[in-house]
Amino acid sequence: MELFEAISARHSMRSFTDEPVSRQVMERLVSAASLAPSAMNEQPWDFYVTTGETRRQLSEVMSQGTHHLEEYLEVLGHTATPEQLEWYSELGGAPVVVACTIPRTDDEFLLMNKYLSVGGAIENMLLAATDLGLGACAVTFSYWVRDEIEKLLEVPDGRIIVSMIAIGHPTDLPPVAPLHRMDTAVYLD
Ligand SMILES: Cc1cc2nc3c(=O)[nH]c(=O)nc-3n(C[C@H](O)[C@H](O)[C@H](O)COP(=O)(O)O)c2cc1C
Repeated sequence: MELFEAISARHSMRSFTDEPVSRQVMERLVSAASLAPSAMNEQPWDFYVTTGETRRQLSEVMSQGTHHLEEYLEVLGHTATPEQLEWYSELGGAPVVVACTIPRTDDEFLLMNKYLSVGGAIENMLLAATDLGLGACAVTFSYWVRDEIEKLLEVPDGRIIVSMIAIGHPTDLPPVAPLHRMDTAVYLD
């Protein structure tokens, strides 16, 4: 797939078949992510690629998070259907969930650089997934159970999970594909 085609075709997929994604394919996606630019070439990301039993256990932990999520949505005044809340425990049945981590730091500037850098790596992974005909969705709501997930995945103390990425073969359910704002730049001569 041509690059601009992949950029346009990429949308968050939230529903997956149970067809597995091979280790070889996941290694290609991780390679694409690892080639992203990063501040001071720090390459702050580490990826925890969960499938099989670990992926199942992850769902168990994530389902505990929906309780906190309900409270959170209440605070924000949003309404969520039980189906939407359920989605966070199953992540659309994605056979692969990747936890993206960066080093912890109290330094606001360094933290910003790490977040920006891992964001680029995540986009590379999403685009590579699109190119390979897979569906993917970045998710941050795992924050509510982040400690438990870090424990399950044995993420070292010095690192934090900043995002999860659900990956798999998409079902026929079309993505929401919201319109993207195109009035984003100010051009200055
Ligand atoms: C940092 C980040 C966090 C996100 N978290 C969630 C999430 O928790 N749940 C969800 O359904 N989608 C999540 N998304 C996907 C966005 O909702 C989606 O990218 C946005 O609505 C634009 O739609 P598109 O990706 O289909 O173009 C997240 C995306 C990003 C970049």
